[in-house]
Amino acid sequence: MEENKKIIFSGAQPSGKLSIGNYIGALKNWVDLQDEYNCFYCVVDMHAITVKQDPAELRRRTLETLAIYMACGIDPEKVTLFVQSHVPAHAELSWVLGCSTMFGELSRMTQFKDKSKKYSQNINAGLFTYPVLMAADILLYNADLVPVGIDQKQHIELARNIAERFNGQYSPTFTVPEPYITKAGAKIMSLADPTKKMSKSDPNPNANINLLDTKDEIIKKFKKAVTDSDALVKYDVDRPGIANLMTIYSVFSGKTFDEIEREFEGKGYGDFKLAVGEACADSLSVIRDRFDALIKDKAYLESVMKEGSEKAARVAYKTLSKVYRKVGFVPPVR
Ligand code: AQP
Repeated sequence: MEENKKIIFSGAQPSGKLSIGNYIGALKNWVDLQDEYNCFYCVVDMHAITVKQDPAELRRRTLETLAIYMACGIDPEKVTLFVQSHVPAHAELSWVLGCSTMFGELSRMTQFKDKSKKYSQNINAGLFTYPVLMAADILLYNADLVPVGIDQKQHIELARNIAERFNGQYSPTFTVPEPYITKAGAKIMSLADPTKKMSKSDPNPNANINLLDTKDEIIKKFKKAVTDSDALVKYDVDRPGIANLMTIYSVFSGKTFDEIEREFEGKGYGDFKLAVGEACADSLSVIRDRFDALIKDKAYLESVMKEGSEKAARVAYKTLSKVYRKVGFVPPVR
């Protein structure tokens, strides 16, 4: 780990197949940042169980998510790549930070409100304290920056408040993190309802594009994407369906909105949706091919997880022991 580089932490939950929303909002930026920063990238399986998961599926998806990270271009030689539950310091710090987090603060989190509605039969305490665990993830590594989609901005702000409160109450301990949110693709919307965020756990298969979808599936889903009846390819925030497709096309083709508008002048939505589907499928086919090779090599995936968790634990336990000392825990006699 190079000492002079700034530190980045980020993660995604293995709560479904990663979508192009996760890719554009987070993963793509992780890849772009890995040379310039000391990066800690994590599969946050402990966050995933705030919603009911089938244990066998969770195990499979955790490995798949790790392989997807690498298939997208994350290099385990450059970054610290690991699974959250392999570093118990995350849960341990979360307890301490929970004692510096107010009930009122957690009650204001919009993700908690949204998920309480969505999973009204299972409003568990973990769903409520999710942002405290997320603060622990970030603060353990003294991250300067956290690349996320805009939906996570409120949680980063809470992590900042918790860090500042702890630093004030005891003495300077944690780096106060900043969110890193790119303008393009900060929030990719559902293809079935462009007023809603695209989510990997959406039960409607036409709502999102999974990173491992085939070309046929991708093209079919874009064909069905909900747009208005204007048939005019022009960026306008008040036309969320077309604005979303233009954002996706722009990310995968590298074209600006002006170039896209010129390309489809006088053409209908049919041509446009096909072009979006093809650009997306072409980019994702590289990821799918790499994934297919990686997922077969379980021994390699296990060695990445092992090395990553050892590297992460060394940093995490240094922070945790400092925190334990500051709050007044007697050090264990070894
Ligand atoms: N639609 C999105 N647009 C841009 N960024 C997004 N992210 C998620 N959805 C979009 C970003 O992806 C990263 C990983 O997300 P996560 O797995 O930690 O949880 P999430 O935000 O709850 O993502 P999902 O896909 O909506 O998962 P489920 O369906 O399980 O709740 C984060 O940086 C997030 O901002």
